Amino acid sequence: MSKPILVSGIQPSGRLHIGNYLGALKNFVDLQNSGKYSCYFFLADLHSLTEYPANAGEQKKRILELTADFLAAGLDPKKSLIYQHSQIPAHAELTWILSSIAPEGDLRRMTQYKDKSARGEEANAGLLFYPILMAADILIYDAKFVPVGNDQDQHLELTRTLARKFNSKFGKTFVEPQGLHTATPRVMSLKDPTKKMSKSQPETCLFLDDSPAEIEKKIKSATTDSGSAVRYDQKEKPGISNLLDIYCGVTGKTVPQAIKESKGKNYGAFKQAVAAAVVKHLAPFRTRKRELMTHNAKLKMVLAAGSARAAKVANVKIAEVKRAIGIAL
Ligand code: ADP
Ligand code: TRP
Repeated sequence: MSKPILVSGIQPSGRLHIGNYLGALKNFVDLQNSGKYSCYFFLADLHSLTEYPANAGEQKKRILELTADFLAAGLDPKKSLIYQHSQIPAHAELTWILSSIAPEGDLRRMTQYKDKSARGEEANAGLLFYPILMAADILIYDAKFVPVGNDQDQHLELTRTLARKFNSKFGKTFVEPQGLHTATPRVMSLKDPTKKMSKSQPETCLFLDDSPAEIEKKIKSATTDSGSAVRYDQKEKPGISNLLDIYCGVTGKTVPQAIKESKGKNYGAFKQAVAAAVVKHLAPFRTRKRELMTHNAKLKMVLAAGSARAAKVANVKIAEVKRAIGIAL
């Protein structure tokens, strides 16, 4: 029996933070290494055009940097397909085809669209269309599983709706995918632990390639409540609970284990332990990433080879879709 297909992507839209890592990238590596899935991991570079950087040079740099992040974290092109979805025209074609069955009102209600358009000076149409492209990214490979943070749940729900709608209108063509979450599907901001840590607000983030001194400084000054005992309580102690989640995410310990260890520690000592664990966990990543960033040609080759392989799969599916809707004569 062939393995179930698993697909996920990350936008090359800036440096990755510990939320991207614990909610998505670390899980990609674990899922890849479980050997249970046929894995597709891609750079959502078409998505990132909705928030275009300063220039084309910066865009290229971000793409290579995210490729280095993937590899440094442990994704392996021998085990997973690693590619740029912009290099596979079938993604954009399927986006257009799905747009005709996507309710416009649903798109306007998407939280990410509402948040991003509220922040930007002028919302572009790409932001509105974004979830249809995401649905195409998933449906084009018949993915059964999609590992993401919980901020993507609404987009996944739309993906399922579009798959069902298409299937009932044109005959069974798509698989309805399921999301996969980690134990930390929503790492919170270090400054305001009631909000999600997000690349678009760099001051709230612990970046994967921050130096040990930066990590220590950021964790030391993370917002916590006025109590003193280390307890897990997302309502009363959102800051400490977030640090406990981060600690458990990087050490593999459970929350009760972490609390037991922290008995008698004040917040300062607890924060020191969290910082030390994060620094230790990320040290090999930092070394590997630095090394990979000196090999741009290798990074480009990984992407080109992965994109060519993924395109073969996507081309078969888009042909099936075109036959199903009657535009392939
Ligand atoms: P951001 O929201 O920081 O711009 P992306 O949208 O590129 O990040 O997200 C890439 C992946 O990381 C997605 O699977 C997303 O759900 C996950 N993710 C983003 N932020 C967090 C977070 N704070 N906690 C857990 N997962 C997150
Ligand atoms: N929308 C996702 C994010 O902002 C990135 C993404 C694009 C994605 N296409 C996808 C994730 C397909 C999973 C599957 O993080």
